[in-house]
Amino acid sequence: MYDKISSSEGLLSRSSSPSFASEEKLEIPRRRNAQVLPKTTYILIGLLVLSLIANVVVVVVLNAAISKANGLLGDETRNCKSQTKLYSPAQDALEYKVTKFESSIYGGETEYQGPPTEHNNRLWKQTYAHMNTHITEEEAKQLPNKTMPEPPYEGSGYLIVLNVFHDLHCIDSLRLALYYFLDDQWNSTYNPYTLFEHPDDALWAKGGRDLSIMHLDHCIDALRQSTQCNGDITPNVYQWSEKWGEVRAWATVVHECRNFDNIVDWAKSHYSRLPFAFGDGPAVGKCAWDDPWTCLLD
Ligand SMILES: *[C@@H]1O[C@H](CO)[C@@H](O)[C@H](O)[C@H]1NC(C)=O
Ligand SMILES: *[C@@H]1O[C@H](CO)[C@@H](O)[C@H](O)[C@H]1NC(C)=O
Repeated sequence: MYDKISSSEGLLSRSSSPSFASEEKLEIPRRRNAQVLPKTTYILIGLLVLSLIANVVVVVVLNAAISKANGLLGDETRNCKSQTKLYSPAQDALEYKVTKFESSIYGGETEYQGPPTEHNNRLWKQTYAHMNTHITEEEAKQLPNKTMPEPPYEGSGYLIVLNVFHDLHCIDSLRLALYYFLDDQWNSTYNPYTLFEHPDDALWAKGGRDLSIMHLDHCIDALRQSTQCNGDITPNVYQWSEKWGEVRAWATVVHECRNFDNIVDWAKSHYSRLPFAFGDGPAVGKCAWDDPWTCLLD
């Protein structure tokens, strides 16, 4: 430490002497000060060093406090540049899992695809069956937005829906609507758009609110925001395809995903028995119209 001070002193005095020499003739008062200057320089250097030490101490202490705070917020913030992180009561359910995506096309289809069947309807419904959850008052107080308490009954709390479940409910609505439009009963003159004056009315009346154009339009935009929010930066790749005889883009790569099973487990353990759903969609066990496709299963 002392060595550093004396060496920087040396630098100062060496570099300052030529400039004093050049100013000698121009500024006489400066010359008188020049005798006093070394003393004040020592004091200034001393203060500078003290303030540097103080700065280092402050930075070290602050860094320790910030990393401690990040540790409390969970794994997720470790590699995150942003220091802002909103509270979620399900943050402890977060776990990262490397997952390979399916191509979902040309033989890579999953069980969730194809025209609605009892089997795939059940699979879809299972992904968001526990979307209505409740949390404690203490947890509710930490939310950035307020939420409603449930009516009092044993185990009641404050109602929330984790957004991933709203997204899945939206995708399921879009899936059912897509196939609903492909139904044999529709033709060029007789279809959900022409049945009523307004297309919203047609699908709403036939398929329930969830299948209305208004709801589907809402879903597409909710999914847009969610996808942009989550910003999956996993690189898809280009590789030669023997089958196609050309270089093609591949989506069957590995992603670092939030373990969905863990989130479902959290939802199951916080499930609210209230029959609330988004909008006025069919309750579990009911069909949206006289068609088993849309029956929401337990
Ligand atoms: C949630 O909080 C934001 C920020 O304060 C506010 O703009 C928004 O209206 C709130 N939404 C609800 C539903 O409370
Ligand atoms: C369309 O379907 C309706 C109802 O089944 C039927 O009355 C009508 O003749 C069909 N129109 C055409 C062009 O096939």
